[in-house]
Amino acid sequence: MALRRFIGNIPPMIHSLLYVSTQAFTPADADATIARIVTGSRRRNVRFGVTGALIATARRFAQVIEGPSDSIATLFASIRFDPSHRDVTVLLADTISERRFGEWSLAYHGLAPYLEHVVAPMVASRTVTERDGHRLISVMRYLAAEPIWASTVHTTAES
Ligand SMILES: Cc1cc2nc3c(=O)[nH]c(=O)nc-3n(C[C@H](O)[C@H](O)[C@H](O)COP(=O)(O)O)c2cc1C
Repeated sequence: MALRRFIGNIPPMIHSLLYVSTQAFTPADADATIARIVTGSRRRNVRFGVTGALIATARRFAQVIEGPSDSIATLFASIRFDPSHRDVTVLLADTISERRFGEWSLAYHGLAPYLEHVVAPMVASRTVTERDGHRLISVMRYLAAEPIWASTVHTTAES
């Protein structure tokens, strides 16, 4: 009984995954393709209890998704083989006690070409130091909290 009460107080672990990839569409198609991805993802992430953020540079993606482990496994299985990108490389996978993007089913607001020089070497080397991975997540958190993003985000409560 005491053990059950103790276990019941442990918050469920949240799995977080950071990956990068190379866009597999032309720059001319970027706006329409990314808009389609973001709209569908926000709806689906709410259903899966997943939150996160997406960065699209000139030619790459960086994304964090976080949530229950089975949701992350299911979502990432389809993300990994999505023909809209290639070179999909997981850089960080960890468990966290509190969500980093809890207010956003998927934080995204427009292209960030100025981050190409940050993300492209990560795609090329297929690895990142833990410090650089967390710095990229910090940039995503900073941008997610910017008013320009906040005005367009869909919270987890929306459908
Ligand atoms: C860069 C990128 C990020 C994506 N992020 C998500 C996401 O966060 N959530 C999601 O449901 N789908 C996301 N998708 C779309 C999925 O890959 C997939 O197309 C969608 O979930 C439908 O999957 P299904 O055809 O297996 O049903 C993303 C696709 C790309 C290219």
